[in-house]
Amino acid sequence: MSRTTLAAYLDANATADLTAVVTRIADCCAAIQEQLRLGDLAGVLGSAGADNVQGETQKKLDVIANDMLKDALQACPQVRGIASEEEDSVVAANTAGHFLVTYDPLDGSSNIDINSMVGTIFSILPAQSDGELSEAEFLQPGRKQSAAGYVLYGPSVMLVLTTGKGVSMFTFEPGSRQFLQTVSNVSIDRDTREFAVNMSNQRFWASPMQEYVRDLLSGSDGPRGKNFNMRWVAAMVADVHRILCRGGLFTYPWDSRKPDQAGKLRLMYEANPMGMLVEQAGGEVWTDGERILDIQPDQIHQRVPVILGSADEVLCCVDYHKKASA
Ligand code: AHG
Ligand code: MN
Ligand code: MN
Repeated sequence: MSRTTLAAYLDANATADLTAVVTRIADCCAAIQEQLRLGDLAGVLGSAGADNVQGETQKKLDVIANDMLKDALQACPQVRGIASEEEDSVVAANTAGHFLVTYDPLDGSSNIDINSMVGTIFSILPAQSDGELSEAEFLQPGRKQSAAGYVLYGPSVMLVLTTGKGVSMFTFEPGSRQFLQTVSNVSIDRDTREFAVNMSNQRFWASPMQEYVRDLLSGSDGPRGKNFNMRWVAAMVADVHRILCRGGLFTYPWDSRKPDQAGKLRLMYEANPMGMLVEQAGGEVWTDGERILDIQPDQIHQRVPVILGSADEVLCCVDYHKKASA
């Protein structure tokens, strides 16, 4: 069976400039997966012995993947600048480039040392000027993204991509080193009986989230009248991938241990790109009171509570929040 290559897909679904950026990212992720495959043999596991600007301990692979993507994108003429979860501030590439790229080089870092799933998440925004690069230029709502996607390093390596014309999945074929389209027109069912949340934080959530999850757990005996299953991979990339494949709700709520921090996940490296993919597949993507893609960012590293996935379930969860604030 002959399959559509990523190059052929981009030819039909992206401009030449955008194609160049996505291709650069895909090629780099193919190189990152080689490091991941080698694991301890390449000496890439464990801590890098430093914290990132957000106060999180960096793993060696966080740093390696970040540097590989930074080098690849800085060498791409179409990229004007980049912002990464692992960089303190924005990094200039080519002043005349038409795109800005933001990324989480390695999502799910706590899974690295247990040989479990991780991924790379990226967002591509239009450049805003051709003068000196500034952080302000990156602060565009997710709605403005030109493309978004992730590479999941699982039993097979998959690129999941949207250029605003639906969502497609590509599987990496090691022999040809190509990403080949294996799923087109990804569509998330509106209804689900599956949710994903780190339940160990339950007592720290705000009351609407406590009530929503309590009602899920009471199953067919409770107000929802049906039983729910739970999954938590501890890598957003893998939890969102499952939702794109078989539906579900994913949330990482605000919690009271760090009251001034708006949740754990980052708007520009995680929530916005995943948000574009999920909306393009027919799902809903919210923070407590508004759609995430409508948020005007005020800082590249800002965090946001996230509720995303099957449309009816997400709207049901959002209703608990709306009722509480009414
Ligand atoms: P990162 O590894 O890029 O810091 O992101 C990890 C995030 C996200 O992928 C995942 O859903 C969540 O952290 C897991 O958090 P817990 O360890 O609190 O479950
Ligand atoms: Mn992450
Ligand atoms: Mn990360």
